[in-house]
Amino acid sequence: MARITAGVATSHVPAIGAALDNGKAEDPYWQPLFAGYEASKAWIAAEQPDVIILVYNDHASAFSLELIPTFAIGCADQFAPADEGWGPRPVPVVKGHPTLAWHLAETLILDEFDMTIVNAMDVDHGLTVPLSLMFGQPDAWPCPVIPLAVNVVQYPPPTGHRCYKLGKAIRRAVESFPEDLKVVIFGTGGMSHQLQGPRAGLINTAFDTAFLDRLIDDPVGQAMVPHIDYVREAGSEAIELVMWLIMRGALNETVRVAHRFYHVPASNTAVGHLILENA
Ligand code: DHB
Ligand code: FE
Repeated sequence: MARITAGVATSHVPAIGAALDNGKAEDPYWQPLFAGYEASKAWIAAEQPDVIILVYNDHASAFSLELIPTFAIGCADQFAPADEGWGPRPVPVVKGHPTLAWHLAETLILDEFDMTIVNAMDVDHGLTVPLSLMFGQPDAWPCPVIPLAVNVVQYPPPTGHRCYKLGKAIRRAVESFPEDLKVVIFGTGGMSHQLQGPRAGLINTAFDTAFLDRLIDDPVGQAMVPHIDYVREAGSEAIELVMWLIMRGALNETVRVAHRFYHVPASNTAVGHLILENA
């Protein structure tokens, strides 16, 4: 049977991708950030997942205000890096896992989570920056990736509680897949960030730290926190953090923290990162 062995949470700031793609990873501004992911690269090289389920949000690259799925699952063979305005990132095409993705779609929908099935989609920094942070700059990504896109752009996004329950349903779905696969689930986005308006650049380290603590030790409590708390305390785009609850819901109630990292600034935002293992 397939099983989820661990969860990875990380911010997906596009400037991180641009820094890597343009050879700036050793610059004094970026070096401390990439240093925080050295342990992560070693961890995932040892973990060797067969498949990654990558929870992220599209930033008007594949979807737009014309089409806003709350939860969408990529069932295609592959997903090309999206053109986000400066051209697509020079990273490998993301290979999917259509058999597991279709199994997830079917199982989740019958389990009353109405996923949008996506058979053709490009993927933007929300998905590719976490892969770059975890795998560096390989010629090909080392394993297939199932994109799971969440609407956190247009109000109303799903609640944290809904996200947490989706994580639990994803776990049930994975565990009913007959093939023996090691699955790692990623939750991406966050932490503090406000990209527009008078509060642009807002960072609330106390909020971020409390979120990290509570995601680890009290995910049920964190799942009950309303949207307005994220937005008021940590900026409008901090709402991306609800996606981490999908990852967390797919893990055991008690987890082992394999790695924790927090860094300010990256572009206008705070970067947070956790690797949680099922004990
Ligand atoms: C930025 C964009 C993002 O999608 C994000 O999650 C963080 C930062 C940015 O444009 O700086
Ligand atoms: Fe984002």
